[in-house]
Amino acid sequence: MSTQTNEIFELIQAAVKKFISASAAVVEIESAPLHLGFQAVDLSRHQVVLEDEGTRRSVSLITKMASRTERLILHRLFSQSANVPFSHTNDMDSEHRALLCIQNVDEHTDYQNLNIDLLQKKEAAALAYIHQSNLGCKEQLLWLPAATRDHAEQMLNTRWRPSWEKAIQTESFIEAFGAYIPEVEAAAACITADLEVVLNDESSHTLIHNDLNPGNVLVHNNDDVYFIDWEEARYGSLYLDVPLRLDIVQARDYLDELSSHGVVLPSAKFESQYKIAARYLGLRFMAWNLGAWAHDLRAKEGLIKYLKMATS
Ligand SMILES: Nc1ncnc2c1ncn2[C@@H]1O[C@H](COP(=O)(O)OP(=O)(O)OP(=O)(O)O)[C@@H](O)[C@H]1O
Ligand SMILES: [Mg+2]
Repeated sequence: MSTQTNEIFELIQAAVKKFISASAAVVEIESAPLHLGFQAVDLSRHQVVLEDEGTRRSVSLITKMASRTERLILHRLFSQSANVPFSHTNDMDSEHRALLCIQNVDEHTDYQNLNIDLLQKKEAAALAYIHQSNLGCKEQLLWLPAATRDHAEQMLNTRWRPSWEKAIQTESFIEAFGAYIPEVEAAAACITADLEVVLNDESSHTLIHNDLNPGNVLVHNNDDVYFIDWEEARYGSLYLDVPLRLDIVQARDYLDELSSHGVVLPSAKFESQYKIAARYLGLRFMAWNLGAWAHDLRAKEGLIKYLKMATS
């Protein structure tokens, strides 16, 4: 066995004992790389055969070379009983990436056969739970970068701006979405100034996921929603998460869940900050869709959603 294979085997064995069964032994692992990540981080799926008190069964686990932020945040949220996968690492603290073994969240999910309304409500509650559990926990999360105006500007300049400049030179984009161009440009011109009021409202600061694209929200066991990929997590405004996943009507479930935990957001303020954040998020998240919409229907649907958010 190579050193890396050995390290993966040991890590999986430890994760199995900690989270699946203390009496289980790993008998065999079949590994396959997952080349899905946008950032091409080293990611693999492992089919693991276990022997436990005389019977054999198989489970699926993921390994990822995860950043320190992701390792620490997954650990923190799992200890808070939030909707995140269990995870295990031998190196929680070093600054560089380290191997993390993660529960395969949607191993048993049939995406063709889901109760979307129910899942939407569960997602709203799960997101509210994460936000309320960490609201105002700045002191405990001092090591986590903050979601500042500089960060927002950097996101727009590095992600949105280059893809947008390219798209608006493209005939097929102009033909399909030309009507949005002046409105999007107008929104972009003032968004970071408008966003200040959202970013500076410390009463809404918490641990935020900060990258809630559809690939980072998975269905577990057909009946619950888990959040993965905490790489971009920051300390900042909860409004930077909510509009990506919940429209303003669905957000009522989110607000109800917050208030059941004693956190009441006045509805006028919620609506106004939600709308500003939605414009920013629409811009920030359309980058991938701008490049992919012409040959991918899901990307096109996503692009329409983000264009509407950006100009709402
Ligand atoms: N714990 C998990 N359970 C099930 N699937 C997973 C898990 N972790 C990762 N995946 C799959 O791999 C994909 C990429 O993983 P992840 O988002 O963690 O990596 P990434 O490199 O940060 O990707 P990206 O930059 O695309 O967001 C996910 O969208 C999902 O399909
Ligand atoms: Mg991801």
